[in-house]
Amino acid sequence: MHRSHHCAQLSSADLGVSVSLAGWVDTIRDQGGIIFVDLRDREGVTQIKLEPHDNATLGEQLKQLKTESVIGITGKVTRRPAGTENKSLPTGEIEIEAASLEIHNLADTPPFPLDDAGGDKVNEDLRLTYRYLDLRRPKMRKNLFVRHRASKSIRDYFDSAGFIEVETPALFKSTPEGAREYLVPSRIHPGQFYALSQSPQQFKQILMVAGVEKYFQIARCFRDEDLRADRQMEFTQVDVEASFVTREDIYALFEGMLKKLWKDVLGTDITTPFQRLPFADAMNRFGVDKPDLRFGLELSDFTELFKTSGFKVFASAATSNGGAVKAFNAKGLADLTQGELKSLEEIAKSLGAKGLAFIKIEGGEWKSPIVKFFSEAEKAALTAQLGLAEGDMVFFAAAPWEKACAILGRIRLEAAALLQKRGKLTIRHDDWKFLWVVDFPLMSHDEAENRYVATHHPFTAPVAEDAALLDTNPKAVRGQHYDVVLNGMELGGGSIRIHQPSLQKKVFEDVLKIPADVVESRFGYMLKAFTYGAPPHGGIAFGLDRMCALLCGTTSIRDVIAFPKTQKGQDLMAQSPTPVTAKQLKELHIQTVMPE
Ligand code: AMO
Ligand code: AMP
Repeated sequence: MHRSHHCAQLSSADLGVSVSLAGWVDTIRDQGGIIFVDLRDREGVTQIKLEPHDNATLGEQLKQLKTESVIGITGKVTRRPAGTENKSLPTGEIEIEAASLEIHNLADTPPFPLDDAGGDKVNEDLRLTYRYLDLRRPKMRKNLFVRHRASKSIRDYFDSAGFIEVETPALFKSTPEGAREYLVPSRIHPGQFYALSQSPQQFKQILMVAGVEKYFQIARCFRDEDLRADRQMEFTQVDVEASFVTREDIYALFEGMLKKLWKDVLGTDITTPFQRLPFADAMNRFGVDKPDLRFGLELSDFTELFKTSGFKVFASAATSNGGAVKAFNAKGLADLTQGELKSLEEIAKSLGAKGLAFIKIEGGEWKSPIVKFFSEAEKAALTAQLGLAEGDMVFFAAAPWEKACAILGRIRLEAAALLQKRGKLTIRHDDWKFLWVVDFPLMSHDEAENRYVATHHPFTAPVAEDAALLDTNPKAVRGQHYDVVLNGMELGGGSIRIHQPSLQKKVFEDVLKIPADVVESRFGYMLKAFTYGAPPHGGIAFGLDRMCALLCGTTSIRDVIAFPKTQKGQDLMAQSPTPVTAKQLKELHIQTVMPE
């Protein structure tokens, strides 16, 4: 038997008991010839006392022993001498007086410290190269446990609500409408490819036609996207679809899931129902469709005010078709440094701004290169609407509406971070501000391609009363689409779907302008399925990785994925991607063309 107990189990209730423990050597201390080892397993740490004096074998073993070696010991539970207890450990009152030591495996010195504080300072690439060591750190181990707890809570929730988990294929067919895909060559069909599933969307809708009624799946999805802190090429969705449901049913179902999840994992009661914010309001007030509601700094609209302004930059934006002038008060940020201002300007420009006009209120004066153009009435309106006071800093954007919102939306986040750094704003990671963003436009106009594209995806149903506008003004049609947002992160999104084959065909062909033969080859099977009795249905998918990151209080989903890829899409531990042999390529009918 390797062990009788785990390393967080024994206490003064077990004094005198003979035990065997196994695990990793966390620390070794030599105190005048008596060796103390903190033995660690996944549950915790127990102190082992080893006395090599008249035990030559033990003496030899201990000479070799280094931290992270794997050992087993047998011995008796004894009370630690008074004054040497460790109150912060469940096993802090006892130690094991070792009778024997078995070394299962010696360890080389780890390339970085495995405690939380030490490990956090290490370059992430090094941690990912030695992920098995990184995962030994208490924090990373905790994250794995939280993820397990979260999946279990979610499965139990849907199970008790009558949903069944159905697996759908990872090898699907190419549907270039969505994100960029990973192609998989077929060996037995030369020149043909599968695509890795971006989401189970089409299969889950087919399951509704199949009469499953309530489906869920914790599903792996693959998207060849630029990677970021909240994006991996391979990620996990909590994917759900149900028949005979309305938007309200989905809201209630998911509020229930999140309530249970937060309770099960964190013991926290979150408030439901969540607030709902139409897309246009989210953009107008926060400059983004996934607003962080933990702080204010809301945007105001001054388009009307500046229509007749002496400041031509603002007047021309305000009077142009679809143009807007927006501003917000970064309250208390007048002490912004030149460097900080410069980098905000750079950020604004990277989003297409022509500049980042500002007003700084310092020593009772408005300091700004543009204020000389403002009339007294304009100044009074700004003061009133933005609540201007000493120490404030106002930023402006004049541009087409959506761009002006987006620029200031981003500057708002940057300003909040700068205010937080100065101790003037507190943003807590556990201040849970959930909301539904609703009333998205069904279609957006793609300027580059001069055609409409689906805002969410082409299966989303229009809001019933707007459907007639599909022929005349697609941009004005609202979709039955909803997103769940938490603290500035999009957690999930979904919609009520189109279930009438004629309407789905019309959206593909007449609105999205996909040629009929292409529609037939890509989606023909789905349109056909819908002709055999498709129920009204809808659903949603949540990013499990993103949810776990928030539950663990980390900003990177890599911290809650056991083996993530780097920002460059590499697995540094197993080392992928790699070249393959000429023979493999030949079998797959593939020739590679190396970049020049
Ligand atoms: P969508 O594309 O909005 O919807 O994805 C749903 C949720 O999945 C998460 N997510 C990601 N997480 C990590 N890395 C990525 N690369 C990544 N991409 C998306 C996000 C997102 O909110 N089939 C639809 C859902 C539906 O309509 O039911 C879909 O996939 O948290
Ligand atoms: P200019 O008149 O071009 O010298 O601009 C005066 C100020 O307005 C500068 O601080 C610019 O950064 C800023 N600015 C110029 N265009 C815009 C715009 N479209 N939106 C916001 N600020 C702008």
